[in-house]
Amino acid sequence: MRGPGANEPCWCGSGRKYKKCHRDQDAVGERPVHAGAVRAGLVGPRRPVPPHIPRPNYAQTGRPRPVPRLADPAERLRRMRRACRAAAEVMAEGAAALAPGVTTDEIDRIVHEGYIARGGFPSTLNYNGFPKSLCTSVNEVILHGIPDSRPLEKGDIVNLDVTIYLDGFHGDCSATYPVGPIDAESARLVRVTRECMLRGIEAVKPGRPISDIGKAIEAHATAHGYGVVRTFCGHGIGEEFHLEPQILHYYDSRARTVMEEGMFFTVEPMLTMGSPEHVVWPDGWTAVTVDGKRAAQFEHTVHVNRDGAEILTVGADGKV
Ligand code: MF3
Ligand code: CO
Ligand code: CO
Repeated sequence: MRGPGANEPCWCGSGRKYKKCHRDQDAVGERPVHAGAVRAGLVGPRRPVPPHIPRPNYAQTGRPRPVPRLADPAERLRRMRRACRAAAEVMAEGAAALAPGVTTDEIDRIVHEGYIARGGFPSTLNYNGFPKSLCTSVNEVILHGIPDSRPLEKGDIVNLDVTIYLDGFHGDCSATYPVGPIDAESARLVRVTRECMLRGIEAVKPGRPISDIGKAIEAHATAHGYGVVRTFCGHGIGEEFHLEPQILHYYDSRARTVMEEGMFFTVEPMLTMGSPEHVVWPDGWTAVTVDGKRAAQFEHTVHVNRDGAEILTVGADGKV
């Protein structure tokens, strides 16, 4: 590997030793494979949350602990609607700031302030040690990208995955956005991924097995020649960020859990232009496609009701 010696100052000007700063990331970039691959920037310090904001139980330790369920189903639904609406609003604020030259860390700042303005806590902050207030996943990054100093470039696609902890409940949503004009192939990937999420949600029906969701998603993705990521899935959500059941985005006959009225879960398919297999960067979080081709993701939190699904992560206008 070329670059400064391990104990010399990093080339990026941070003042830290090279081995403590960009050395691992440079090693990633050095993998010969993918021209034009996304390169990690610098991750800024953890953003503070004012002390009056209620915190989830992992905020200090980084380890989520089980939380008892609220007894009253109507109250759970009210609070989930509020948390999820807040998440959707905050996501829209982050999305409005996207432009070439804007760093994902700047989006992190805006989203962080959006949670706090609503009395909420960034669910991702220190969740199993995650260092930032949302995930920003650019181009071949499938999910769990860490906001950093990399400026967005014209032609990028970027997923903003926003989760708020508000009044004891988590609301989780994400969408993939174009940065300036994007190529037609990327636009098609983004469109079909959103359609897959909506088809998965349309398959939600009490009394039906959760495998119906993945079946609907996989059929639409495959018809368009896209891969479906299998390693990461949707999840139950509520008093805790990630709960049972897992929501697979492909068909598996073993996914026999029956959907029931009152359940809350996410549907969050990830589609790839090429291989759906991933590798994780040395930061321990950022999951990228093995072949360097682009990926997209969309996510809503839904509530199972008598007729199907109510999408909860919508703004005050109810618009999806
Ligand atoms: N919001 C992501 C999801 O949809 C989870 C992010 S967890 C983090 O489930 F630790 F990576 F932030
Ligand atoms: Co999410
Ligand atoms: Co989720």
